[in-house]
Amino acid sequence: MEGKFMSEILKVLSGIRATGRLHFGNFLGAVQNFVKYQKDGNICLYFIADWHTLTTLENPEELRTNLTEIVKDYLAAGLDPDKSIIYAQSSIPEISELCLYLSMLQPLGELQTIPTYKELVRKFPNRVTLGLLTYPVLMAADILGPKATLVPVGEDQVPNVELARDLAKRFNNRYGKTFPIPEMMQDMVRIPGLDGEKMGKSDADNSIDINASIEEIRRRYLTKGVTDKNRVRASDPGDPYNGCKSVYPIHELVTVEETENRQIAKACQAAAIGCAECKNILVDNIARILEPFQERRRELAEKNEYVREVLREGGKKAHRIISITVSEVREKMGITIY
Ligand code: TRP
Ligand code: SF4
Repeated sequence: MEGKFMSEILKVLSGIRATGRLHFGNFLGAVQNFVKYQKDGNICLYFIADWHTLTTLENPEELRTNLTEIVKDYLAAGLDPDKSIIYAQSSIPEISELCLYLSMLQPLGELQTIPTYKELVRKFPNRVTLGLLTYPVLMAADILGPKATLVPVGEDQVPNVELARDLAKRFNNRYGKTFPIPEMMQDMVRIPGLDGEKMGKSDADNSIDINASIEEIRRRYLTKGVTDKNRVRASDPGDPYNGCKSVYPIHELVTVEETENRQIAKACQAAAIGCAECKNILVDNIARILEPFQERRRELAEKNEYVREVLREGGKKAHRIISITVSEVREKMGITIY
């Protein structure tokens, strides 16, 4: 059985590219889950995939700033450097070495069928680099380097994690049991943006900035938040579950009291609540989550040296774990460093 030689302790790992700042979708869908995994007995590794960012971002200053700003967001959201290993991918050169070893086991054709790759080829045909093609192999190195057992990801990353699982199995078959097969955890729910599409799609103005003022967030929901389009007048009953694109789905995630959610849904179905009122309630509930975050985030804004220290310490810890795996891999594959 696959889970058999998975150790009792969970080794949770996830990465994020430094293409921009965190938005409310990352915050709700990903980071809040990362925080939940931080508890006794779990080892959590959360890193910024700066190498992966290079597939699409060319501005070095932007990359550097995004990286440290994301770490501040992580810390303000509750990731604790004493409980989680927070690091930059590039701090551990062995990850790229492992990527090279894994690339020897990776059939080329498979890489060309990965949906995210195909989509980028379609969108940016003159930007198809070798780095883009090998993106999933580097991701497998991220995951297998620390021998992660649980990888929380969003839907779009499923094929990449599948590929990492396949590489782990292939390596184990050829060289003997080395890697646990990482389980995928699809608990990073898709968070709709203001237009109802996935939040943060680069070509849409549909994001909620977690550092925006509550008034700004309210204004954006009130003016841009797409609701049930069949609900033309306030007297028309609405369909919160299937019709409402950007508001009700977020209620389910931020409006903590289940009864309150059900009341909102019922009121919508009975045309007893208008969309503006419903959005105002939503933003009040978002404020309850974001206000304490924003306060901590402001305190961190100028603490660049502290952030660098967190990254250095996290880098050391991650290096200690990953370098052991990479020595083992070298040994098994017949590589001796003279
Ligand atoms: N590709 C992921 C994304 O775009 C980021 C990532 C890089 C990642 N390496 C990873 C996620 C390893 C999970 C595990 O979201
Ligand atoms: Fe959506 Fe609320 Fe309007 Fe119903 S009342 S359609 S749940 S915004």
